[in-house]
Amino acid sequence: MLDHIKFNAKTRINDADIMQETPLLVKTSNNWVQAVLGNFDSFLLDHAAAEKKASGMAISMLSHYPDRTRLVTKMTDLAIEELTHYREVLRWIPSRGLVTVADTKDQYVILLRQAIRKETDAYFLDRLLIASVIEARGAERFALIADALQMLPMKKFYQSLAKSEARHYELFLDLAAVYFDSSAIESRWRQILKIEAEILSDLPVRAALH
Ligand SMILES: [Fe+2]
Ligand SMILES: [Fe+2]
Repeated sequence: MLDHIKFNAKTRINDADIMQETPLLVKTSNNWVQAVLGNFDSFLLDHAAAEKKASGMAISMLSHYPDRTRLVTKMTDLAIEELTHYREVLRWIPSRGLVTVADTKDQYVILLRQAIRKETDAYFLDRLLIASVIEARGAERFALIADALQMLPMKKFYQSLAKSEARHYELFLDLAAVYFDSSAIESRWRQILKIEAEILSDLPVRAALH
């Protein structure tokens, strides 16, 4: 479904360079990669929090739509997978002499969520598409980090995360296709990609996922 707005999953997932296949309208700058490499500890703590929030978001989705069986099943799987990512990131934290910190607000996500429309169906579609674009950005950025890192275990870890987040980007588009017409999805998807690009371009570069 929606194959013309997605890229070929098999090609992408087997391809080391996820960036070349991304639906995103703007590429992450090299300045961001340098900021992350320059303060990897800060990035790692923020990344841990982002995985935990992704798990919480999946639970929030299934709680909000308990009668949508496919969504509930997929969000249950996703909540577990994202929490598994959190556990994997947590393994790196003490080995670097770090301790997890309180969550901070993610301005990128806050601004994206402001684009969610209020009307019931539009609200649902927007939540799915915004979740998808967040996953696509995560996939792009984890692939960039994987490319930039020299330490082999960490490099492999980020390569595997990039593949997971790329699958999640597709998962949310597939879920949208279960509940909405492709024409409704396509027009809103184009708008959301544009909104995401504008938000990203306006945000400061920092050693954090967003
Ligand atoms: Fe994740
Ligand atoms: Fe994800």
